[in-house]
Amino acid sequence: MKRTPKTYHVKSFGCQMNVYDGERMAELMAADGMVATDDAGAADLVVLNTCHIREKATEKVYSDIGRIRKTQGEAGRAAPMIAVAGCVAQAEGAEIVRRAKVDVVVGPQAYHNLPRLVADAAAGTPALDTDMPLASKFGQLPARRRVGPSSFLTVQEGCDKFCTYCVVPYTRGAEVSRPFAAIVDEAKALVDAGAREITLLGQNVNAWTDGERDLGALIRVLDRIPGLARIRYTTSHPNDMTQGLIDAHRDVESLMPFLHLPVQAGDDRVLRAMNRSHTRDSYLRLIDRIRAARPDIALSGDFIVGFPGETEAEFAATLSLVDAVGYAQAFSFKYSPRPGTPAADMAGQVAAEVMDDRLRRLQAALNRDQQRFNAATVGARCDVLIERRGKLPGQMLGKSPWLQSVHLTASAAIGDIVTVQIAHAGPNSLGGIVTAGLAA
Ligand code: 5AD
Ligand code: SF4
Repeated sequence: MKRTPKTYHVKSFGCQMNVYDGERMAELMAADGMVATDDAGAADLVVLNTCHIREKATEKVYSDIGRIRKTQGEAGRAAPMIAVAGCVAQAEGAEIVRRAKVDVVVGPQAYHNLPRLVADAAAGTPALDTDMPLASKFGQLPARRRVGPSSFLTVQEGCDKFCTYCVVPYTRGAEVSRPFAAIVDEAKALVDAGAREITLLGQNVNAWTDGERDLGALIRVLDRIPGLARIRYTTSHPNDMTQGLIDAHRDVESLMPFLHLPVQAGDDRVLRAMNRSHTRDSYLRLIDRIRAARPDIALSGDFIVGFPGETEAEFAATLSLVDAVGYAQAFSFKYSPRPGTPAADMAGQVAAEVMDDRLRRLQAALNRDQQRFNAATVGARCDVLIERRGKLPGQMLGKSPWLQSVHLTASAAIGDIVTVQIAHAGPNSLGGIVTAGLAA
């Protein structure tokens, strides 16, 4: 028998949806009487909230479990209870108990049961719950606690797109939208708890609908919550970019001029093989419409290099798409075959050295554009939401409307929105001088 844990530590890997789920799991454990600790090496219960998207992310879970046990053993402590949550839990289920002897395995749609599973494990049986019940977990979670100035709110989960390389439709299930009223209530609770910015989350966030409204209509309602200064959303699929959402970018001042819109590749044959259901041209035309609605919008994307069968000429089409769009920032990955996905069995798997070379060239182009975008904001005035203290004395860090990190020296408080003039730009952050917004 393990003892009932008194302290807990949640470690989230992967996407922002995991960060949100991790916060909600922490709230559950706190409501159950446990106390948070920042130190995984000292916690009675360690929850690893895992990511399955690429092979490296999955392997990290197993090495982390080993490391936590070792640290606690070296400190002479009893072995901690280990719970594996998130997408690896969903995908591997009982296999994790076999391979790593963990105490609890809980999937992303079942974590509201975590306190019960922990109690079961304390009573001596490894506890597993990877159900995807029809009734949503959200109604069974405790109220939101104090949050930082920038907070996440999951409004949509799951994916029906079945891109051929991707595990998400299997680990997170089908597309489900949370009800309108529940989202508005949670947004108000977050603002009451200290949020000034809310990022709406979903694997396909722009597929959110309540049957009548689209995400643009939801954003127009959230815009009216007093005290909520900024709204963002991520991640979007090009095919779910409704006219209503594009119009919201034109009309809603609190909707920040930033859009993460993954394209993955620039060649139509590759896009077809990926089952992306958009073409290079339809994506570029969509970008034109979005820019017409909001000319200063900063664009971000995701890219995969070395998808099975990708030729040099097809990869060159990705580079030329990058040139055509001019991203403000982006994420790029080497293709990683995921067991059970169609692409894992496709002919023409690309050699590791070729992928390395393509990733290097793609990242050079993306970094060049990011630097260009940052440099173009020098001299501009913009609002910065202060999120935390910097490393230097008196330094504060925040975000520009275009999601750039801005550092400044001022007696601003966390949660303040100050107007700054951008004085210099580096590859990853900007320096600003406050011109307004501070209390006298
Ligand atoms: N290999 C590499 N990258 C992947 N992504 C999703 N699945 C894979 C995979 N099997 C990337 C996509 C997606 C992002 C979240 O992760 O670019 O948009
Ligand atoms: Fe994965 Fe494609 Fe769904 Fe995005 S849209 S989660 S890449 S299947």
